[in-house]
Amino acid sequence: MNNRHNAQITKRTFIKSVLAVPLFGASFSDLMADPKNKNATQLSENEDFWANIRSDYRLKPDYINLENGYYCMLPQTILEAHIQQVREMNYQASFYMRTRQFDDKAKVRHRLASLVGCAQEELILTRNTTESLDTVISGIDWKAGDEVVMALQDYGAMKDMFQQQTLRHGIVTKVVSVPNHPDNDAEIVEMYARAISAKTRLLMLCHVINITGQILPVRKICDMAHSKGVEVMVDGAHAVAHIPVNISELNCDYYGSSLHKWLCSPLGAGILYVRKDKIEKLWSVFADGSFPKDDIRKLNHTGTHPCSTDLAVNAALDYYQTLGAEKKETRLRYLQNYWTSQVRNIPNVVVNTPADAARSCAIANVGVTTLKPADLAKVLLDKYKIYTVAIDYANVQGVRVTPGLYTTVAELDQLVVALKELAG
Ligand SMILES: Cc1ncc(COP(=O)(O)O)c(C=O)c1O
Repeated sequence: MNNRHNAQITKRTFIKSVLAVPLFGASFSDLMADPKNKNATQLSENEDFWANIRSDYRLKPDYINLENGYYCMLPQTILEAHIQQVREMNYQASFYMRTRQFDDKAKVRHRLASLVGCAQEELILTRNTTESLDTVISGIDWKAGDEVVMALQDYGAMKDMFQQQTLRHGIVTKVVSVPNHPDNDAEIVEMYARAISAKTRLLMLCHVINITGQILPVRKICDMAHSKGVEVMVDGAHAVAHIPVNISELNCDYYGSSLHKWLCSPLGAGILYVRKDKIEKLWSVFADGSFPKDDIRKLNHTGTHPCSTDLAVNAALDYYQTLGAEKKETRLRYLQNYWTSQVRNIPNVVVNTPADAARSCAIANVGVTTLKPADLAKVLLDKYKIYTVAIDYANVQGVRVTPGLYTTVAELDQLVVALKELAG
């Protein structure tokens, strides 16, 4: 535990945080201070600055953690703010829940709506992307024969939910396969377009494909789908606070994300966006009679819920916005390019992620042709003390490598050495 932060975060700062004003004090600003490099590109290569950021993380010495895709661990600054909120919530108990919880959560909702570029009336706080997107999938009034277009590379939880709609309502799913190295946006847009028929009601796509890190041209796909009368639901689990997300500009109908991934909020926070004119026709999974049919809060009847998690989003937003979205994104892309550029052209090494900066950021996937993904992940951990995750489906054979803000280039050097040795 970090005494600096303990001393800093008092009951007063908790009250400030639930009021949704900037949480952190002077030493936090020091952590972020960078007098020499104002430019995000220059800063991305300034190891001293990032070493300072790293000092705010409590890292296990057992291995190099290159699996920040499941859950990005919290820096101590956010973690301690969260712990203090849990304590304070326990102290204020029912009084807080009956008096201030709703206003405070509304303020978090407002901050998140401005972060992702939509109206507050189109966004709710959820527990995660699964809850967000499954709320949409189960809320549509499906008719037998309705078609949904999705990709082999989409996330399992949503595929399961569509499968349930197939069993329950007789919908039909059309599955495309996204190439790991598309030539251009048109190739992807046309691939989705070819799968659309007169019966297609919804198209689902990832903003960032989790198994490869490929960023899809969401706006172009939305425009194409809309021109054919098809709604679009975007799985943004890996996008928010990783790459820029402006939902109005993306022009989608539904968008879900998890905040415990790239925003570094505590586990169990997400968002659901539903375009204003699409709210009324959606059924709620957990009915809520206290809101009109066209109020998105009808989809948000969570029951009693640890709202300390929702409120900690304030601390995560403060951290992210103080650091700066562009600086974060640029550093993450720099780290990915740092290692992938050293192994892309090595015999027996296959990088399953596009090199184009517009098509990838922190996440990349790499395979060694002589090793099964599970064996590659195992040897990386056992022999080289590098933790990754094996991916072995949907035309992707490799391990997913996801650096975090605390990752050093020295750690990535070790990954490069390991891959070169394993490739023979
Ligand atoms: C693309 C994608 N969608 C959805 C999810 C589900 O996120 P969560 O478990 O936070 O609901 C994940 C999780 O890794 C994901 O990678």
